[in-house]
Amino acid sequence: MFGYFSAAKRFLKSLSSGRRPGDRGRLIVRVVAREEANALVAAEIAALIRARTAAGKPCVLGLATGSTPTGIYAELVRLHREENLSFANVVTFNLDEYLPMGPEEPQSYHRFMHEHLFDHVDLRPGNTHLPDGMVPVGQVTDACAMYERQIREAGWVDIQLLGIGRTGHIGFNEPGSAADSRTRLVDLHETTRLDAARDFSGEANVPRTAVTMGVATILEARQVILMAFGEAKAAVVARAVEGPVTSAVPASFLQTHPNTMVVLDEPAATGLAR
Ligand code: GLP
Repeated sequence: MFGYFSAAKRFLKSLSSGRRPGDRGRLIVRVVAREEANALVAAEIAALIRARTAAGKPCVLGLATGSTPTGIYAELVRLHREENLSFANVVTFNLDEYLPMGPEEPQSYHRFMHEHLFDHVDLRPGNTHLPDGMVPVGQVTDACAMYERQIREAGWVDIQLLGIGRTGHIGFNEPGSAADSRTRLVDLHETTRLDAARDFSGEANVPRTAVTMGVATILEARQVILMAFGEAKAAVVARAVEGPVTSAVPASFLQTHPNTMVVLDEPAATGLAR
């Protein structure tokens, strides 16, 4: 009974605040089956691409790697093949890349993007951008500044896709990353290196550093979509969505962003209290 009344009260309160039940702070949280999540997010991206194309304007996508977004890329490729979705007007910026990492190496994010998306749609080669994993350490600062400049000159990111690491990282912004951090060289957390070990046949082979867009760079996107699937992400999702905004959990900074949607499957949502 009490549960019913408090749920009803929450619902009415959410109506009066202009937000929908399920909203967390400024975050909009959707819990759906993984297939549905992929279709939902891909449809959102496709709608924006089509609207921009119709208006004769480019559409700037911020892209993520990892196992989480692969279904979205597969759905975007399907929309390209079967429903005429053209990427001719799309400009992309990826979040991050290991350093050092050659673009053809099996674990490189360059290669990942080609395999999952770039090679299967009509994106113009000059319109895709990833941090350079081969840049000499002495030139990283300049390369990062150039990446920021390219994003700015493209008119900033329209939709930024994000996964989340078990450390609470977005891109490779590990715990300790500041809200005003920019594209830069970072050290990878031990947990992140451990999680990547399967791709590198052992933790010893995982690079210790990477280049990542900063938290501030990510927060400049007009819209952010963070996705997480599976029980292994439940604890960190709860800290990011319902915990305090803190650099100890960089994903929690998304709570300060005006237009962020968090798309979870049931297992990833099990840690949420509200
Ligand atoms: C890597 C990437 C992140 C990604 C994370 C989670 O660390 N740099 O951008 O969000 O992995 O990966 P997965 O989606 O495989 O769980």
